[in-house]
Amino acid sequence: MRLTAIRGMGCTCKGSIIVIFLVAATSLTFFYQTSSIKDIGERTGYLSPRKSLIQPINNGTDKLTGLASTIENVKTVIARYEQNIRGPEINVLLLTYMRSGSTFTADLLQQSPDVFYVFEPLTTLLRYGMLPPFVYIPVVTFDQAPVYHLQKMNNFKMFSKRLLNAFLTCTFSQVDMATLLQYHVRNSLTTLPFYNCTRQYRGILGLFRCLPHLYERCQRSPVSIAKTIRTRMQTAVEMLQSNPKLKIIHLIRDPRGTLMSELRFGRFRKSELLTYATTFCKNVTEDLEIARTHPDRIKIIRYEDLCDNPFLLSKKLYDFIGMEFTSEIKKYIHSVTSAGNEVNCPLCTSRADSKMASKRWRQQITIKDALTIDNVCSNVFHIMGYKPVNSLDELRNLNVSFVAEPKINVLR
Ligand SMILES: *[C@@H]1O[C@H](CO)[C@@H](O)[C@H](O)[C@H]1NC(C)=O
Ligand SMILES: *[C@@H]1O[C@H](CO)[C@@H](O)[C@H](O)[C@H]1NC(C)=O
Ligand SMILES: *[C@@H]1O[C@H](CO)[C@@H](O)[C@H](O)[C@H]1NC(C)=O
Ligand SMILES: *[C@@H]1O[C@H](CO)[C@@H](O)[C@H](O)[C@H]1NC(C)=O
Repeated sequence: MRLTAIRGMGCTCKGSIIVIFLVAATSLTFFYQTSSIKDIGERTGYLSPRKSLIQPINNGTDKLTGLASTIENVKTVIARYEQNIRGPEINVLLLTYMRSGSTFTADLLQQSPDVFYVFEPLTTLLRYGMLPPFVYIPVVTFDQAPVYHLQKMNNFKMFSKRLLNAFLTCTFSQVDMATLLQYHVRNSLTTLPFYNCTRQYRGILGLFRCLPHLYERCQRSPVSIAKTIRTRMQTAVEMLQSNPKLKIIHLIRDPRGTLMSELRFGRFRKSELLTYATTFCKNVTEDLEIARTHPDRIKIIRYEDLCDNPFLLSKKLYDFIGMEFTSEIKKYIHSVTSAGNEVNCPLCTSRADSKMASKRWRQQITIKDALTIDNVCSNVFHIMGYKPVNSLDELRNLNVSFVAEPKINVLR
């Protein structure tokens, strides 16, 4: 009798401790989302002292019973969605780098009604690694409240694989809550309804209430696609080995275009161009060397080819993934790639005249910067068929193509 009572109490207390831990840890997590504290705070209510997260759980009744039954409820709902699911038959990772045309490319792919698409799931995760030394922020998920210290790079790699896989296979209980609430969620047609829902219902319980939007959209899609600019090819290839449904698209842009765009975005200072470009092109070269050894499951594609021939290359991408290239999709491609008005907006390169979009850097770069990049990126140029600059006239004359035959097998 006595034992049972104690055990019963123990369970309840354990339950409430987990919830209190969840709340505390998640609040801390959000506190450290340096760039969008206010935005996230507003959405979740974590930063507003007037809104208590516990309130909707205990509902003014017995606190502990309320908490315990909430945990049971979470478990039941997650089990309903995650046990015995088939999920998408094809998983695709669109692996690329910042400012390399991935938004444009992904937009062409997410037009298919077969696709569940997620836009950069790793943004928030990376911020855990930017904390001051000895500050450990746990990553909080719905499945088992695991704690990972992401300052260690190995943990980041392990968790980023888990996170990408969770999105590709519709197991959202493994996705940490900060990631579920990040603003990128609104950038995909298929996660937008979930995003809108989390704007309406706030806090952890609101988030939980909105999860079915993700589950249902993901589970009925034959194809899932995740775009990432924060995963190296080595990590992606490890995922390839453990997931037989996975294919990878490796999107490459002329480093001069990527770097000029990153510079304009303030990713690095002009005085740092040499060192930044050196590391960047070293990274790209390593990734390409790994990618080319898996020609069946990894397709390499140049952003410039896609912009010059959007119909042909989109069709090839659709074929590689195994999706139907319908007339609706052709119509969409026409509407976003033929000449239109592009206002002065650094984020809008994906719109309007795609042929122009991939070449605009040539009107802005100085010959000195172009030569600096040509010098440290010669490996990437050689492999991918980008031509170094000979003169300022040639650089500015867009009739002169800077894209030649690649040395490796590229989708074109
Ligand atoms: C909360 O309490 C109100 C009034 O006591 C009740 O009508 C409602 O059903 C309760 N909600 C939950 C989720 O228990
Ligand atoms: C989401 O919200 C935005 C802005 O409020 C609205 O324009 C859009 O139609 C909504 N989309 C969905 C799918 O709910
Ligand atoms: C190169 O890769 C490393 C680790 O994979 C990463 O930390 C770094 O930011 C990358 N550098 C650039 C300039 O892309
Ligand atoms: C580029 O080609 C177009 C048409 O072929 C021509 O009209 C234009 O003068 C050329 N521009 C330059 C700078 O050579």
